[in-house]
Amino acid sequence: MKIMVVGGGGREHAIIKKIKENKNVTEIFALPGNGGMAQDATLVNIGAKDISAIVQFAKDNKIDYAVVAPDDPLVLGCVDALEEEGIPCFGPKANAAIIEGSKVFSKNLMKKYGIPTAAYEVFDDLQKAIEYLKTAPIPTVIKADGLALGKGVIIAMTREEAFEAVTSMMQDKVFGKSGDHVVIEEFLTGPEVSVLAFTDGKTCIPMVSSMDHKRALDGDEGLNTGGMGTVAPNPYYTDDIAKICYDTIFMPTVNAMNAEGRTFKGCLYFGLMLTPKGPRVIEYNCRFGDPETQVVLPLLESDLLTVMQAVTNETLAECKVVFKKESACCVIMASKGYPTAYEKGFEITIPEDISDSVYVAGASVKDGKLYTSGGRVLGVTSTDSTLQGAIDKSYAKVASIHFDNAYYRRDIGKRALQAK
Ligand code: AMP
Ligand code: GLY
Repeated sequence: MKIMVVGGGGREHAIIKKIKENKNVTEIFALPGNGGMAQDATLVNIGAKDISAIVQFAKDNKIDYAVVAPDDPLVLGCVDALEEEGIPCFGPKANAAIIEGSKVFSKNLMKKYGIPTAAYEVFDDLQKAIEYLKTAPIPTVIKADGLALGKGVIIAMTREEAFEAVTSMMQDKVFGKSGDHVVIEEFLTGPEVSVLAFTDGKTCIPMVSSMDHKRALDGDEGLNTGGMGTVAPNPYYTDDIAKICYDTIFMPTVNAMNAEGRTFKGCLYFGLMLTPKGPRVIEYNCRFGDPETQVVLPLLESDLLTVMQAVTNETLAECKVVFKKESACCVIMASKGYPTAYEKGFEITIPEDISDSVYVAGASVKDGKLYTSGGRVLGVTSTDSTLQGAIDKSYAKVASIHFDNAYYRRDIGKRALQAK
């Protein structure tokens, strides 16, 4: 089978490595991928948002199955376009990807179907938003409606910050059209959990839970990033909480999307906060998380391609999805300065014997050598019978990888260890 994976980061590298385990797979193409994946996939210089070129490539190369991993092509209708040409795909259609593409949509969906989330108001007029904020409880949370590279959420600790946030989004348009509408919501507290789930629109199978580390610096300080590391399972997510989430959040969301005529097929990502009043949805994503995927898939015992195909064929109920009863830890090595300005172009050396544990996010190849080309450069994952063991193994591997300007957090998994 010829497989095509749309996307180019560490998440896509983890998906590719896992799909490669299937013996029927003869070739995997990554569009565009990155230089660090060249040993695992054939790189194709087509951007993940270039839908017509992606479809043309799939037709020309007789692709048997496509995985569309990032949010942008999903929201732009990449799966719709591929399916129109008869190419089976993993990922939701555009009308379902809106669950991530529009926060106004997802908040209204949760309200309509009674799915627990933070209380909120939607504004499309700056003056009305400012009027509301004059008496709103502080801290408050301000979210741009559309995709904003994970940066469209501002936690305002003071009223002044809240005024600034709505002004920058709605008047200065720092996130472009994504700021035409803003959601202002209740500030919640509690441990955060990421749960990715396979769903074919009928059955929903949650994967092992995980914990992201979004802030750039140790101790959860500094700016929000795409994610500096993950651990799985998330020890705060007990079996009892998992059951509550399945009954009050996961299945109700799948059913709500069906009721809206927007059946969701693919990986539905639940960003949850375990508040003193119970689990609440912080965000939905229409795709695998990054870097959650880099800890979840190494724990997947079942064959990923088989599960994905069951999602496509709507036979997930008949499919066994089994996870190892182990822990995993992924430490992201970034370029110093990320998520703002950073230098790139430094040579990366990775010892051969750990290359299986490395998921490359931002690297290019020149004359057979690997060079840094992005903010997040690579992730290093280990699994072990204990979380401490997985953390120790990953940091030992990190110490053996070299590139100038490397930066990584030293405390990935620390909070999870404290939960026990
Ligand atoms: P998001 O981009 O929606 O994942 O939000 C980024 C981060 O902002 C989340 O991971 C939370 O830490 C935080 N956040 C989002 N919404 C809320 C909320 N209602 N209350 C407290 N923190 C929030
Ligand atoms: N790690 C968070 C995300 O993928 O959105």
